[in-house]
Amino acid sequence: METLILTTDDNEINKAGKIIMDGGLVAFPTETVYGLGASALSADAAKKIYAAKGRPSDNPLIVHICKKEQIAGVTEEIPETARIVIDKLMPGPVTIILKKKAIVPDAVTAGLDSVAVRFPANKTAQKLINAAGVPVAAPSANLSGKPSPTKAKHVIDDMTGRIDAIINGGDCTVGVESTIIDFTGDVPVILRPGGITIDDLKAIGVDAVIDKNILQSVSADEVPKCPGMKYKHYAPNAEVIVIEGKKAAVQEKIKELLMKEGRIAGVLAMYGAEYDNAVILSAGSSNKEYAKKLFSALREFDELGVAVVFAEFCEEDGYGLAVKNRLYKAAGGNVVHV
Ligand code: TXA
Ligand code: MG
Repeated sequence: METLILTTDDNEINKAGKIIMDGGLVAFPTETVYGLGASALSADAAKKIYAAKGRPSDNPLIVHICKKEQIAGVTEEIPETARIVIDKLMPGPVTIILKKKAIVPDAVTAGLDSVAVRFPANKTAQKLINAAGVPVAAPSANLSGKPSPTKAKHVIDDMTGRIDAIINGGDCTVGVESTIIDFTGDVPVILRPGGITIDDLKAIGVDAVIDKNILQSVSADEVPKCPGMKYKHYAPNAEVIVIEGKKAAVQEKIKELLMKEGRIAGVLAMYGAEYDNAVILSAGSSNKEYAKKLFSALREFDELGVAVVFAEFCEEDGYGLAVKNRLYKAAGGNVVHV
């Protein structure tokens, strides 16, 4: 299949909207990561998403909207705490899980009776959803298992020949996916930390608990609340090892490991430490910058032929929990505490 590369001009976005309306697949920028969109009201279109990504069909998709009124069109009931999140944090990097209406096909929700809904802040995403005339189902636009795409190039590398069009909207500003909050139980539960932090939620009076599977692997006999939790994620070809602790101890440990390492090694470094015999990529100097650079750096290490990546991780504040969650998943639980 030929994949069109489109700009963010209105006429090109309208062309992309028409493709979605006609049952096709379009990758588009959001503030978090690029999404791979199709009509959320068509089972056939949703099935094409799973095929293009190589995604297991039991892992549901997020339904993207461009007007708050659309939420009532796809969900049964909106609890008060969810209403606060809708009022105060949308549009933005947050996804809410609510009971679904029958109009949303099982292919989109992987047979669950709930649906994930997100209103992205990115203007191109909003214009595309509006042009499509329907809610847009979209997972991240990477091949299943790979790091999520934060630049158009990442989408072009993964999806050329597999989808109808890619809108080039430049780099994503947040860099990690939306915070997913489940509102179907007695208390709101964070299933994935992301662009909205726990402090952001506290500030609007929403007390959410954190699902335990955010920082640990799902055991073989367990059914996680968020099906995506049980799959391999964000994995570059290189082996990833997280070194976690206080800055000086982390740097010392990485130096020690580099001395013993025979393979081509990389370091994802927060504070610009001097490491010998390693490809060093900067993770910035805050967790917010780390979030923005993480997925792109993992892809770049692969391009540079790096076989093992030592990733510094120091603090869990702010965006730290989201960064830590992605690092732990990328490392498959391979974490050294110092
Ligand atoms: O920032 C984002 O959320 C990006 C952009 C494109 O919007 N999208 C994204 O989608 O990250 P995806 O498919 O890569 O991740 C969605 C996650 C999966 O882990 C899936 O299992 C979970 O959301 N999910 C979707 N619907 C769910 C539901 N009804 N109940 C529980 N988890 C759900
Ligand atoms: Mg994804």
